[in-house]
Amino acid sequence: MDTNRKYVALVTGATGGLGTAICKRLADDGFHVIANYNNKEKAEKWREKMKGEGYDFDMHQADVGDFEAVGKMISDIEQSIGPIDVLVNNAGITRDGQFRKMSKENWDAVIRTNLDSVFNCTRHVINQMMDRNYGRIINISSVNGQRGQFGQANYSAAKAGMHGFTKTLAMEVARKGITVNTISPGYIATDMVMAVAEEVRNKIVSEIPVGRLGGTEEIAHLVSFLASKETSFITGANYAINGGQHVY
Ligand code: CAA
Repeated sequence: MDTNRKYVALVTGATGGLGTAICKRLADDGFHVIANYNNKEKAEKWREKMKGEGYDFDMHQADVGDFEAVGKMISDIEQSIGPIDVLVNNAGITRDGQFRKMSKENWDAVIRTNLDSVFNCTRHVINQMMDRNYGRIINISSVNGQRGQFGQANYSAAKAGMHGFTKTLAMEVARKGITVNTISPGYIATDMVMAVAEEVRNKIVSEIPVGRLGGTEEIAHLVSFLASKETSFITGANYAINGGQHVY
């Protein structure tokens, strides 16, 4: 590792609630943060908002479900900025509904964006991380991948799949200075959670022992920890951060 340069962190799905908090926290920690997005219009507004808050992120567009597009994004980043030290696989969507009514389209969309994306992004950074004997890969999963959730067969499958991926890759790259870990947030105050009908959401919150939704900055704090150089003995782990909603 060349310790004279800023470490580079790529955060996928940067313009969402968790992504925003993660980008800000890693920038505060001194990383050169690259913010990936898919929706250009939303990203432009986000960039302006971030500038207003004192953050000037490098932004790169790619649909994380598209292997070729991700490859191009990562090679552009490597050429213009340098190799990626930290990859945060954060991009994700929901298409909730009972399984008996779930369309193939809603199954495919969630698996593609939430799980294929992990393959696509990680596959394109892993060899350079191995060559450089350093890397941090952090997969943002969900409590609903750990325990299941009515109406989320697609999402729970993808999120559980992420941790299976984490466990295997952690073993494969452990000798190369690369750690691979999963974070499984519970219900956090993001647009994704606020899109759940109020009545349903209130019932879910009533089942969280801590008695509230989590804050995005609480997840970002854990990402910051796992992204640090000091956590080299933590790999293949799944960190639950859910206010006690799922204890096992
Ligand atoms: N257990 C048992 N039955 C339930 C239930 C539950 N938890 N929730 C709903 N039902 C039942 C209702 O009582 C109703 O039954 P009846 O038909 O007998 O009245 C039926 O299911 C609902 O039928 P709908 O046709 O309205 O259901 P739907 O197929 O449209 O799906 C739903 C409903 C959209 C899934 C709704 O239940 C819901 O929004 N659930 C919450 C899903 C959720 O938590 N999503 C998390 C999003 S945030 C996120 O994913 C981030 C993260 O990582 C945590």
